[in-house]
Amino acid sequence: MGTMLNVLKLMFPYLRPFWKQALGAVILALPLSAIKAYEAYLVKDIFDKGFSAGASSDEAWKLAGILVALGLVNYPLRFFHYYGLRMIVDRCACSIRSQLFQKFQVMPASYFATAKQGNMVSTFMSDTHMFADAFKNALEIIREPITALALVGVAVYHDWQLALVILVASPIFALIFGKLGRRIRKYVGFAQRDVADMTHAVGESLAGQRIAKAFGLHGFLLGRFEKLQMRFIENRMRSNSAEEHSHPAVELVGSLAFAGVIIFAHHRIVSGELTTGGFISFVAALAMFMDPVRKFSKSNAKLNQARASSERILSLLDTPSEPDAGTHTQVSFEREIEFRNVSFSYGDGDILKDFNLVIKKGEKIGLVGLSGSGKSTLISLLLRLYPVSRGAILVDGVNINDWNLENLRHLFSLVSQDVFLFNDTVRENLTTGDRHTEEEINHALEVSYAHDFVMELPEKLETHIGDRGLRLSGGQGQRLTIARAFLKNRDVMLFDEATSALDNESEKIVQAALERVAGHRTIIAVAHRLSTLKNYDRIVVMKEGRKIEEGSHEALVAKNGEYLKLYELSQRD
Ligand SMILES: Nc1ncnc2c1ncn2[C@@H]1O[C@H](COP(=O)(O)OP(=O)(O)OP(=O)(O)O)[C@@H](O)[C@H]1O
Ligand SMILES: [Mg+2]
Repeated sequence: MGTMLNVLKLMFPYLRPFWKQALGAVILALPLSAIKAYEAYLVKDIFDKGFSAGASSDEAWKLAGILVALGLVNYPLRFFHYYGLRMIVDRCACSIRSQLFQKFQVMPASYFATAKQGNMVSTFMSDTHMFADAFKNALEIIREPITALALVGVAVYHDWQLALVILVASPIFALIFGKLGRRIRKYVGFAQRDVADMTHAVGESLAGQRIAKAFGLHGFLLGRFEKLQMRFIENRMRSNSAEEHSHPAVELVGSLAFAGVIIFAHHRIVSGELTTGGFISFVAALAMFMDPVRKFSKSNAKLNQARASSERILSLLDTPSEPDAGTHTQVSFEREIEFRNVSFSYGDGDILKDFNLVIKKGEKIGLVGLSGSGKSTLISLLLRLYPVSRGAILVDGVNINDWNLENLRHLFSLVSQDVFLFNDTVRENLTTGDRHTEEEINHALEVSYAHDFVMELPEKLETHIGDRGLRLSGGQGQRLTIARAFLKNRDVMLFDEATSALDNESEKIVQAALERVAGHRTIIAVAHRLSTLKNYDRIVVMKEGRKIEEGSHEALVAKNGEYLKLYELSQRD
C-alpha cells in the first residue's frame, strides 16, 4: 500500500493532463467488479433452479439470457477500461521521456563529465515505461481487491461461517506480498542498474569498433561485458525467485483455505443448512477470488519495480540545470571580451590561475601552451559550460553570468577537434533545423573547401553520412563542421585544435577554410602546430593555467622565451 501511494504521488503530475480518462477508467472498474460478482452469485440459481429436478425450461432460458446480457454489457466496459488504461500509460511514458530529453539538454557540462551515458539511455528507454505502467498496476491494485471483496460478499451472502475461512487466509496473503515485495524491489533495482551498465558497455564496444579491431580487443570487451552480464543474471535470478515464489505461495494458501472449506461445507450440507447450488456458488466465488488475488500479487511486484524506476527517473530530473538567471540580452558582439583575474578549478586544484586577457572585436588571438595548460578550459569558461570560480569574464563590459545564456552562446561558433556530425544527410548536418537557401549552403561549402567532395558523394547533399560521419574522412568531416559554423554566422569563432587531427596536407586546406570562414570576425584559436597561428594579431602563451607570454609571432620569437621553444618543438613534427 505504501509503495502504491508513493508511486502514485510521483505519477500524479504526469497523470494530471489525462485526469478525465483516468477517472473514467477508475469508475469503469466498479461495474466490472460487480459483473464478476454477479456471475458468481448466479451459479447458485443455475444449480438450484436451472438444473433441479422439477425446473421449467423458462428458468433455464432466463438464466441463459441474463448471462448473454452480462457478456454484452461487459464488452464495452472492459474495452474502454483497459484501452483507456493503456492509452494513459503510453501517453504518460511519452511525456516523461520528453521531460527527460529536455532535461538532458540543460544539464550542466560537469554532469556529463562523470555520468554514464548508458545509464541515462536505459533510464530514458526502459524506466520511463515501467514507471508509466505503475498507473495501470496501481489501478489493478485498487480494482482487484474491489473484485475480491465483491466475491467475498457473495460468499458471505451464501454462508458467512464458511466465508470466515477466507478471512483467516487474507492476512497470510498480505504477509506474503509484503515480504516478497521488498525482495523484488531490491533485486529488480540491482538488475536494472546492471542493464544500464550493459547498455553502456554495448555503446562503448560499438563506438570503439575501429580501435577494438586494430588492437584485437574483442576478448577484453567481451570479458568486460560478460562480467556485467553475470552480475545481472544473479540479481535477476534472485528477483525472479522472489516473484515466482509469490504465485505458488498464494496458491498454497488458497488450497489450504479451500481444503478447510470442503471439510466444513460437508458438515453443513449433510445437516441441510446449505444447498448444493449454494455451495457450488460459494466455491465458484472462492475460485474466482483467487484470480484477483493473483493479479494483485503480480501488480504488487510490478509496482515495486516501478518505484525503483521512479527513483532513477527523478534523480535525473532533479539534477540542477545549468544556471540561467542572467537577464542581459544582446544579439551581437560589439566591443571586447575580457578575462579579469580568472581562476578556475574542476574540483581539486586550480586549472586557471589569475588569468587576464582582453580581446578586441575583430582581433585574431592564438592560444598556445603544453597539453593540460588550460586552453580548452578557457574556451569552456567563455561558453559558460562551467562557472568561473574567482574573477570574472566580461563580454562588452557585462559579466557573462549576467548574460542570458542563449544570447551569450549565440555570439560564438565552436569548431573543435572532435567532429560531431549527426547520422543524417549532409544537408541536415549543415542546416540543423534552420532555413538556408541553396546559394547559402553552396557558398558555405565552397568557403570551407567542402563543395567538391560533397558533389562527388552519391546523392550529393542528400547523402546519409552514417553515425558520427563515419562515411567521411576526418578532414572531410571537419570541413563540414566548418561549413556549418559558417552558416551559423556567429560573431566570434572559437577554434579548439580544429586541425590537429589532420595530416599536413589536409591541415593546410582546413586551415585555409577556417581563415576564409572567419573573414573579419573575431577569432580565438587553439593550435598545437604553431605555424598555423603565425599571422594572428596576438598569441597568448599559457603554462599551468597562467599566461606567461603575449605578443605577435615576431615579437615572441625575438623574445627567445617559452614561445620559441614551443614553436621549435612544433616545427619538428
Ligand atoms: N571535465 C574535467 N574535469 C576535471 N578535470 C578536467 C576536466 N577537463 C579538463 N580537466 C583538467 O584540466 C586541465 C586542463 O585541461 P585543458 O583541456 O584545458 O587543457 P588544454 O590546454 O586544452 O590541453 P590540450 O592541449 O591537451 O588540449 C588538465 O589537467 C585536465 O586534466
Ligand atoms: Mg584542449
